[in-house]
Amino acid sequence: MNILESLEAKTRMLPEKYRNMSTFELESLINDIKVKMGKRLFIPGHHYQKDEVIQFADVTGDSLKLAQLSAENKEAEHIVFCGVHFMAETADILTMENQKVYLPDMRAGCSMADMADIYQTERSWEFLQVLFADTILPLTYVNSTAAIKSFVGANGGATVTSSNAEKMVRWAFTQKERLLFLPDQHLGRNTAYNIGIGLDEMAVYNPIENILEFDGPLEKVKVILWKGHCSVHENFTVENVAKVREAYPEMKIIVHPECRREVVGLSDMAGSTNYIIEAIEASPSGSAWAIGTEMNLVNRLIAQHPDKHIVSLNPHMCPCLTMNRIDLQHLAWSLDSIMEGQEGNIINVDAGTSKNAKLALDRMLQQA
Ligand code: 13P
Ligand code: SF4
Repeated sequence: MNILESLEAKTRMLPEKYRNMSTFELESLINDIKVKMGKRLFIPGHHYQKDEVIQFADVTGDSLKLAQLSAENKEAEHIVFCGVHFMAETADILTMENQKVYLPDMRAGCSMADMADIYQTERSWEFLQVLFADTILPLTYVNSTAAIKSFVGANGGATVTSSNAEKMVRWAFTQKERLLFLPDQHLGRNTAYNIGIGLDEMAVYNPIENILEFDGPLEKVKVILWKGHCSVHENFTVENVAKVREAYPEMKIIVHPECRREVVGLSDMAGSTNYIIEAIEASPSGSAWAIGTEMNLVNRLIAQHPDKHIVSLNPHMCPCLTMNRIDLQHLAWSLDSIMEGQEGNIINVDAGTSKNAKLALDRMLQQA
């Protein structure tokens, strides 16, 4: 069996039945199950989900809000997470033993989270301890595996989201002299820069080569950025900004902090998905916006605000492919399987990993 075949064997594939159902049939099935299950079922949906899925979400939010709501919900037996794998893992860690978390399509991963694995993380830690001794606190973006969250928790660190990164970075500096920020170099760089840390005080750790990329004396390093990125947000460029400025001089540019430093620096505003939504909602009728984030969200904002001129900062942008794996068919299949007692696609973080990962998440939720 080759790698692809063994992966496919482990991944439950969508049965033919759901492929052949009409949109009306799928929507009716989901609605019926939601009514039958009532509060026993909870469907959180991330802002990047497709409209066909988000219409069934009991709550929508950014990563921070969905983590908080998962931690608060004590009554749902079945939590069907419409988002990506690391979000469902976070929900599993924060919910009780008797609550089950499902991901409707197990292939809904995150390319950024895949840029750091636990072996590389342990290797980097050994390497960095030799260079900097016990002066580093690890912080990980929630867009990371449960194993990395657990490692961070065990080493005194915490998780961060794009909503609270600044607060968490400030907190980290009350604990240690320097920090290791995983796995998104851009969120780490943008956040550290915003609190006054110079770009010449930030090193980049390259996990493939196990080297530190830095010109200058090591004692100057305050932040070590893991060399990872979001393959969606890296597609917003300074050229995109220049074109918008030229075509629409009055337009405001708002981007997610997973965009490169240069792009964030040239934009008018930067913040999490919730921040972007609130900024557009609060803006006056007739205002003009170029948004640098995932397309499902940008298209939804365009549809919800016909009185405002909204465009994507990059006109050739695609949606996040992994977020898009969750569709009407997979949601219907997931709910139908729960009703039939044939539960699959359960996200179950083992108790050992969960314990320290929860420490890292709780340190964040206490500050948030
Ligand atoms: P938010 O925390 O802003 O929801 O972002 C999550 C994410 O994956 C962005 O790419
Ligand atoms: Fe991951 Fe980027 Fe998709 Fe967010 S948009 S889930 S960071 S790949």
